Amino acid sequence: MIFELCATILLIGFILKMTKRPHNFPPGPRGLPLVGYLPFFSSWDPQYPHKAMKKISEVYGPVVGLYVGPSRPVISVCSHEAMKEAMLNDDLNGRPDSAVMMARTFGEKLGIMFVMGQFWQEQRQFTMRHLRDLGFGKTSIEDQMMGEVGDLIKDIENKSQSDPERIVDLKGIFQVSVINILWALVAGERFQRHDSKFQDLLRANELFFRTGKIFRGSMPVPAFLLKRFRFIREFIGVKAELIEPIQKFIKETIEDHQQRNPSDDEAGDFIDVYLKEMKKQKDENPSTNFTEKQLISTIIDLFGAGAESTSGSIGFAIIHLVRDQQVQQKMQMELDQVCGEFFPTINHRSSLPYTESVLMEAQRCSTIAPLTPPHYAIKDTKLLGYTIPQGSLVSLNLHAVFQDSKYWKDPEVFRPERHLNDDGSKVIKSDHFYPFGLGKRMCLGESLAKNTYFLFTAALIKKFRFEPVPNEPLPSLDPTNGFTLGYQGFKVVVTPRS
Ligand code: HEM
Repeated sequence: MIFELCATILLIGFILKMTKRPHNFPPGPRGLPLVGYLPFFSSWDPQYPHKAMKKISEVYGPVVGLYVGPSRPVISVCSHEAMKEAMLNDDLNGRPDSAVMMARTFGEKLGIMFVMGQFWQEQRQFTMRHLRDLGFGKTSIEDQMMGEVGDLIKDIENKSQSDPERIVDLKGIFQVSVINILWALVAGERFQRHDSKFQDLLRANELFFRTGKIFRGSMPVPAFLLKRFRFIREFIGVKAELIEPIQKFIKETIEDHQQRNPSDDEAGDFIDVYLKEMKKQKDENPSTNFTEKQLISTIIDLFGAGAESTSGSIGFAIIHLVRDQQVQQKMQMELDQVCGEFFPTINHRSSLPYTESVLMEAQRCSTIAPLTPPHYAIKDTKLLGYTIPQGSLVSLNLHAVFQDSKYWKDPEVFRPERHLNDDGSKVIKSDHFYPFGLGKRMCLGESLAKNTYFLFTAALIKKFRFEPVPNEPLPSLDPTNGFTLGYQGFKVVVTPRS
């Protein structure tokens, strides 16, 4: 009896200690022992965590502190000042261990997006340097991109011609083109648009992103519990079975490259360059981080981060333009004036301020990564004067900044002109707009993503008129949930412009 009483007191003491908020912790709602605030998020917004966090912040302030699970402090950052300070603070540049993300990388901390420290710096720098050399963000891959634009346009044209009312379903149609551009850099190949194996891989990648739960997925669950209990894996959303075929496909592609064994001068894609580095390092450094598993994991990160986000951005831009025919016509006028009979190129870009403002406004209104992948406090640090304990998960809410009425008048209204000077001749870059993040963790694919987003959206709008289907509701701007947000499938009337 005495033993049970002591054990109960000890257990209660332990739980209270674990849920005690540290001194000077940011204000925020309290949850329950063991589960923290997790069960209550949905009462603020049943569907979207970024909206729930924004609403909580409207009550508690720009930096909110709460607990998820028994001992994980979560810091939610919702104002521009706090966001900038957090993104530029190297002590907040870590990433939490996440069973969901590790399921993509053989249960180990590999890749670029969910690693930190020396390992992250080395692998990120190597990847960025070589992708840049291979053409990332350069006009040298513009021809390849224009080839993909041409194929996409043909595909849409055929679909439009084969329907008596010219109605085309644009669900998932941009992914193939975007992946082909990435795949050419990574593996030196392209896929056929309707290749069924490729379509299966795309679907698996999409499903992984659409079914991801950003907070549950970051709960610190010990590996032995995960292995043992299926319901825990399901609750936090570990979906290894979706990633396995992707891992297998990448592994086979690497094996093909190994068999080819290109000479130094022939190393024409990222896999070649990485394999060359692996060989060099193996001779010089037996404990090298350059391994085949790391290469596979890096490619998974590039596709995971790059495919859904870029194709989603193009999709949302088209939806905004279908909903606002006046803006679409104004953009078409500018494209016709500046590019004549040709498709827009990167060189045209600086002469297309209105087009640029439309692309920016679509990203502001429909932010594809409203919460960045969670950051992590590597050591105790400060944010807006509050203490952020080591081990905190830091959630950066870009949506809250891009929808903050302090910086954006009528933030919910789609109005490209807000990004232009008075006579509309120049784009004004706002300090409060950074869809690719800031600081050392900022998006690795920004230059490629910006060029792809511009070339595809501008070419589609130049080539076609996109109109709502008569007697049907307008295509929805409500995103589908997940690690990043996607657009819902939508149908439009597509007419080629003469
Ligand atoms: C419109 C398209 C895109 C948007 C809006 C976007 C946005 C972002 C954002 C907000 C972050 C997180 C920054 C942070 O954690 O603070 C990020 C990270 C990242 N992005 Fe992108 N991204 C896009 C396209 C791409 C593409 C095309 C690639 C690769 C080819 C890519 C690769 C990455 C990687 C690897 C990271 C993790 C970087 C790290 O942790 O060091 N992204 N992106």
